[in-house]
Amino acid sequence: METTSVNTPETDAMDAHCRRVGVLADEVMARLSWSDADRSLVRKAVAVHHNWLGLIDPRLRGGVLHDLILQEKPPTGLHASEDKLRGVLEALGSRVNSSPAAKRLARLLEVCCLFVERWESSPYEGVDFQRLIAEMKQLAGDGAFEPVYVELISRLPSVNKAQITAVCGNLLVMRPTAVNFLRLMATPDPSLDRLAELICQDQELRRDLLRIGNPSGLDYRIPVRMVLHALSAVGVEQACRLLLSNLLRPYFQFAEDRVLWKHSLQVANLASRMVEQIAENGERLTPPITPLMAYLGGLIHDIGRLALHHLPPEGARRYARLVSGGAERQFAEVLLCGFDHCVAGVEALRRWDPPELLVDAVAHHHDPENSPNPLPSVLYLAEHASASEEDIPSAARLHLAEERIKLPKARLEESWDRHLRILAG
Ligand SMILES: [Fe+2]
Ligand SMILES: [Fe+2]
Ligand SMILES: [Fe+2]
Repeated sequence: METTSVNTPETDAMDAHCRRVGVLADEVMARLSWSDADRSLVRKAVAVHHNWLGLIDPRLRGGVLHDLILQEKPPTGLHASEDKLRGVLEALGSRVNSSPAAKRLARLLEVCCLFVERWESSPYEGVDFQRLIAEMKQLAGDGAFEPVYVELISRLPSVNKAQITAVCGNLLVMRPTAVNFLRLMATPDPSLDRLAELICQDQELRRDLLRIGNPSGLDYRIPVRMVLHALSAVGVEQACRLLLSNLLRPYFQFAEDRVLWKHSLQVANLASRMVEQIAENGERLTPPITPLMAYLGGLIHDIGRLALHHLPPEGARRYARLVSGGAERQFAEVLLCGFDHCVAGVEALRRWDPPELLVDAVAHHHDPENSPNPLPSVLYLAEHASASEEDIPSAARLHLAEERIKLPKARLEESWDRHLRILAG
């Protein structure tokens, strides 16, 4: 009888764990110069290391079980490759009755599995790469692991903060007047006069505003009152959104940047709508967050990812390889840099010196529980609603973020559904 397999949250979580272990093991094996055959064997073992009987051909399963339980040869012979795979799986967590070759591969898999399991506890324990490595070295020193594998994992990061800073120095150059405009947009109550004054000072902002608010023509010596007129014709909120979007879009140049820009716009729209709904509910966030601040936060929340796209070719290629290997971006970034795109984003933002609240939002949009501000929670929920799958899903974090912004779940889901339909259409 034909059976269909249905994924459950548990099997999805296990598949994701196995993908992370596989990406990590691949990185280590590349540095060990292991043979293609050994690497392929480890990959197969990784794919099933927590439910490996599922791998074995059902016709052979009885024999394998018999072999494992009775420590005898199975009644029907396994193919040589299946025999080797079984050897590696049997050697997991076991120090006896395995060949040295199987143990060597199994020991690596064990180290990678534990590293990933500890990483997966990060929503609850706040572990970072350095702390994980220190723990693993301690365990290796106690004889639990091969020190050489732990040492290799500790040396995986090849990109440091100085390189991120250097990338951003070239990538994120912005006119001083435009930087001032950006900073003004990150304040809870920007003065209309100051806004008009800044737009008057910046030729490109002025041109963009007049293109939408004064389609009949423009005058480069335009006075403040005409800018005020254009702002009121478009609506201050809408005009500022368009100006912000026009200002930031050109930084997203590469093909993968344009995908990221689309995602950033989606998060910006979701986050600003969420803040509007909070106000409609009669709730107040402390410190206050305006829809415009949430919109700006959404546009720049992943600016660290943008910086990582623009690393020198070797780093950018490695980043793309880690992500295409199946690791979530945040995990791929930790293997690449020892830190994630939130940390890279803070480095990137130094170029523009925005208000601390915005820096904090970028820094904590994947761990909002560690911020005293509500904006990271808004961005975390918007990120989750956009299904960008950048980090390890955490029900605990979602729950905390929802509590923090005081928006009933039903309202959130209704808002997301509507926005996602609009954005998709
Ligand atoms: Fe595992
Ligand atoms: Fe994102
Ligand atoms: Fe992100």
